[in-house]
Amino acid sequence: MFYKELKKFPEHFLWGASTSAYQVEGAYNEDGKGMSVQDVHEPPEGITDFKIASDHYHHMKEDVKLMAELGLKAYRFSIAWTRILPNGAGEVNEKGVKFYNDLINELISHGIEPVVTMYHFDLPYELHKQGGWCNRKTIDAFVQYAKILFENYGDRVKYWLTINEQNVMINHPNAMNPGRLPTKKELYQQCHNMFVAAAKATILCHEMCPGGKIGPAPNITAIYPATCSPEDVIAADNWESIRCWLYLDVAVCGRYNSLVWAYLEEKGYTPVIEDGDMEIIAKAKPDYLGVNYYATATVSAARNDGTDCQPRNGDQQVMIGEEGVYRAAKNDHLEITDFGWMVDSIGMRVTLRRVYDRYHLPILITENGLGAKDELGEDGKIHDDYRIDYLKRHFHQAQLAVTDGVDLIGYCPWAFIDLVSTHQGYGKRYGFVYVNRGEDDLKDMRRICKDSYYWYKEVIKRNGIEE
Ligand code: BG6
Repeated sequence: MFYKELKKFPEHFLWGASTSAYQVEGAYNEDGKGMSVQDVHEPPEGITDFKIASDHYHHMKEDVKLMAELGLKAYRFSIAWTRILPNGAGEVNEKGVKFYNDLINELISHGIEPVVTMYHFDLPYELHKQGGWCNRKTIDAFVQYAKILFENYGDRVKYWLTINEQNVMINHPNAMNPGRLPTKKELYQQCHNMFVAAAKATILCHEMCPGGKIGPAPNITAIYPATCSPEDVIAADNWESIRCWLYLDVAVCGRYNSLVWAYLEEKGYTPVIEDGDMEIIAKAKPDYLGVNYYATATVSAARNDGTDCQPRNGDQQVMIGEEGVYRAAKNDHLEITDFGWMVDSIGMRVTLRRVYDRYHLPILITENGLGAKDELGEDGKIHDDYRIDYLKRHFHQAQLAVTDGVDLIGYCPWAFIDLVSTHQGYGKRYGFVYVNRGEDDLKDMRRICKDSYYWYKEVIKRNGIEE
């Protein structure tokens, strides 16, 4: 639809930026922190691990100052479960509690709204050793953890996110599971247990945090059929439901998506649902939805002849197909990044419209951004005009989505600062702020604002892009 005039971004729009604890903090074994699955993760040769990352733990005040100078209205970060509870449950680490207390106070003193993700891919290793999310004890551990967070920070944190990209952890489990990869049946049990844990945390948040808002933060992306053939449309529906709607239907509507349930039955993946689980899930009502959006995916009809799944690795955004369900297809209308992700700003509008139309809850874009091999130029600057172009196009589509009637409350690009990518180490940068380190060579960790930082500052000031 063409509009004569676009609606403005709402007043008090949360222009923000995101990070996650294990990708940015470093200090992996300091001040009583326990090991998470990410700390024991062995990256491939030549790719950095997460032990030092961007050393935000030791640069916290300097980093918040840069956020303030950028004019950020919100900062979305995650809390490392293992800083609070080194063994995942049991004894509390007061130094860890203090670190986030200081961070939250520092943000608030600069007028920046903290948006807290409770769990972002970094399950405590002790819990992992006991079966991780397959073991229902992990649900109890998450509830203990949630209580500690709400008790300590609930007076100041208004925006909570339960679990980052639960759907990615289930569909692309390789980066989160040291040792043996779980079977699909186990993954859907993990998934169910995470639903129960998130529901319990949601209910607790409402009981313990006056005015607190809480929601999930899945990675959502519209799935396109490769052609208008009805078979391709069915495949796109299949994958969109399995990849995306399952997670939001359970969180928002309190029930399993019927198409996905049929898929789980067909494949023999149905989880054990204990008495009372669905009642808890139905009682927990999110206040808003976090949406991580990077790219759409295009799929065609499955052939069910043993060739639907491609013999290559997928990741969050690179689909590989599933036997009898869908096949990955190409989309020649879209550009592709150096790292093989499609660039589809209009797809973000499509995604936001679909999510809002299904759930009618306010949406916060909790991640979106461009991973690139940024270079520090001889002039001492980082000229990331490609990132500006990427964000400009996505901001424009976000404004169109607002004009379409989507209740968009904020936009937190990934990432505030360069950090370790989930698969490609420090060679894939996302930040508005450059960190002067290499893959192995830690150099001086100096923070340098990229061109996109100065551009974003103007966007925030103007409450939108120039028309
Ligand atoms: C999201 C994750 O899937 O994508 C982040 O929530 C991640 O943790 C981001 O860093 C970008 O992905 P990658 O693989 O390029 O780091």
